[in-house]
Amino acid sequence: MGLKKNTITKETKIPRHVAIIMDGNGRWAKKRLMPRSFGHKQGMERMIGLMERAFDLGVEYITVYALSTENLKRPQEELNGLFDLFRNHFQEYMSRVCARGVRLRAVGDVSLLPDDVQKILRQSEEDTAQFVGKGINVAVAYGARDEIVHAVNRAVECGEKVTEESFSRLLYTGEVPDPDLIIRTGKEVRLSNFLLYQAAYAELYFSEKMFPDFSDKELDKAIVEYSRRTRRFGKTDEQITEKK
Ligand code: IPE
Ligand code: IPE
Ligand code: MG
Repeated sequence: MGLKKNTITKETKIPRHVAIIMDGNGRWAKKRLMPRSFGHKQGMERMIGLMERAFDLGVEYITVYALSTENLKRPQEELNGLFDLFRNHFQEYMSRVCARGVRLRAVGDVSLLPDDVQKILRQSEEDTAQFVGKGINVAVAYGARDEIVHAVNRAVECGEKVTEESFSRLLYTGEVPDPDLIIRTGKEVRLSNFLLYQAAYAELYFSEKMFPDFSDKELDKAIVEYSRRTRRFGKTDEQITEKK
């Protein structure tokens, strides 16, 4: 049955930072003849479960793509449903995960969101600002192109030339290391404007599962696959083994 194949062991290399494109909520709901908002609710619950699993495994940072700048052009009814999820459940769910000493950051152009949703995000940031080490980035009203343009404008305002490092600190994800593993659920094989600068050397993993069906076991599977890969960062195999 290949039982052990996807099991995490002491030898499994755990990615420090996992980012997830949580796609497929709408199709998951449609298949069940339910409204898209039902899929988003299930998705939010699954997101919390996955965060708990990831931190249990020793992951330090998790970035979740919850809403893109392009998603803001969806029908108002769907957007209202998504904002209601933030209004009614976000703080309660997140406080469960953050109670482990996890700092939450909202990454994206939060000013595009309704005032009360902005407030909820700011409050969650404030409530967890004292925590160092583990972190959650919630990408909302996030677009990588918007992020890069925003960072360029900040650099221009400062009037100083940037380096790769100083530029990366100007991004919304500034204080957090680059993702090691990017998972996308929902069958599509694309980045959809997610972490374009930070993803330079991330390992990519695509799952056919719709996000609400992406179980803890599926996460384990993705991490085992990540652990099997050789990250060369442009170097040769020999250089990599010499370093070890
Ligand atoms: C991802 O699920 C969540 C958001 C983009 C808010 P979708 O809503 O894109 O679900 P599908 O892709 O239509 O199934
Ligand atoms: C990507 O999903 C954005 C999020 C998961 C938040 P989309 O459903 O917006 O992606 P496309 O439109 O299929 O590329
Ligand atoms: Mg989608």
